[in-house]
Amino acid sequence: MITHDPNPLYAPNPDRYNHIKYQRCGRSGILLPRLSLGLWQNFGAVNSQANARAMLRKAFDEGICHFDLANNYGPNYGSAEHTFGNIFKQDFVHHRDELFIASKAGYDMWPGPYGKGGSVKYLVSSCDQSLARTGLKYFDIFYHHCMDPETPIEESMRALDYIVRSGRALYAGISNYRPEQTREAISILNSLGTPLLVHQPRYNMFDRWIENGLTDVLLAEGIGSIVFSPLAQGVLTNKYLKGIPANSRAARPEIIHLGNKDITTEKLDKVKQLNSIAESRGQSLAQMAIAWTLINPAVTSCLIGASSPEQITDCLAALNNPEFNEKDILDINAIIC
Ligand SMILES: NC(=O)c1ccc[n+]([C@@H]2O[C@H](COP(=O)([O-])OP(=O)(O)OC[C@H]3O[C@@H](n4cnc5c(N)ncnc54)[C@H](OP(=O)(O)O)[C@@H]3O)[C@@H](O)[C@H]2O)c1
Repeated sequence: MITHDPNPLYAPNPDRYNHIKYQRCGRSGILLPRLSLGLWQNFGAVNSQANARAMLRKAFDEGICHFDLANNYGPNYGSAEHTFGNIFKQDFVHHRDELFIASKAGYDMWPGPYGKGGSVKYLVSSCDQSLARTGLKYFDIFYHHCMDPETPIEESMRALDYIVRSGRALYAGISNYRPEQTREAISILNSLGTPLLVHQPRYNMFDRWIENGLTDVLLAEGIGSIVFSPLAQGVLTNKYLKGIPANSRAARPEIIHLGNKDITTEKLDKVKQLNSIAESRGQSLAQMAIAWTLINPAVTSCLIGASSPEQITDCLAALNNPEFNEKDILDINAIIC
């Protein structure tokens, strides 16, 4: 529970839908905010609950109505869903119909043969656990988090179809699927009558894999994309230019996905050059990195993480300077290619 909250009564900003743009997700009826907020690393049991609450309020006040969860977000696994559920009950319960909330399953979650992968057994029971942790009646999107090579893709898609048909989620999504797997998933889901809404891949200036086939599939099939880690977990900002600051993601011992090994001299050299281009455009590197993902026509929404409400404000300013001239693009390509 949240204690010592200086402002227990939350009245959302009445002007919240006049701040950012909303873009259609593929050929669906759904509009998504150009910037969405993910709860991967800063909403766990180890994090400040008051700060988590302040971030969710800040995001919603600015028009960010899409929040992204997964069964294993924390740290510890499951705890980001608990945090979200507690805050939802206190601040957002009367705004459920304004929110688009996602969760996922695919990576390891609990011990034994049914706690990971792509089986109907795992995906359905994990979805039920996620609903219980968040206290939600349904998710807007439920994703298969990653392709499981040991489960027939037909079975994983059958699980998504069942999750939607049984009312546990409104739409089906896939994440981290390669182009050919995506094409297959789309075709199977179409045949089941539960079309794929969205793909969630990683995309940033240091990781452009989606440009090699995936975006072609998504555009041709009318599927939207919500791209994650646009800031390469914070490396594509100016925060690591003078070493690893205390409390940064790379300095947190409980986080295994970002550390010293990811912040090499070679990478920092590129970050410095990109930072100069961002300065010449009159924006921070974080803002330029976000704006850069959004110029890809296959990208519906850019999914950031944040560790403070101030970072959300800073990231939102990316939307005020979205254009890149030809020289900017050529200069950026020369650095990142
Ligand atoms: N589908 C998947 O497999 C998958 C995988 C990973 C993530 N995701 C989703 O994508 C979301 C975003 O991923 P991510 O957290 O890696 O995104 P990210 O935006 O690349 O990185 C977030 C980190 O960047 C730093 N940051 C954010 N705004 C900043 C700013 N304005 N200035 C300076 N630093 C800033 C913060 O680092 P500090 O904490 O150091 O302050 C923050 O924790 C996740 O929450 C999750 O929902 C999905």
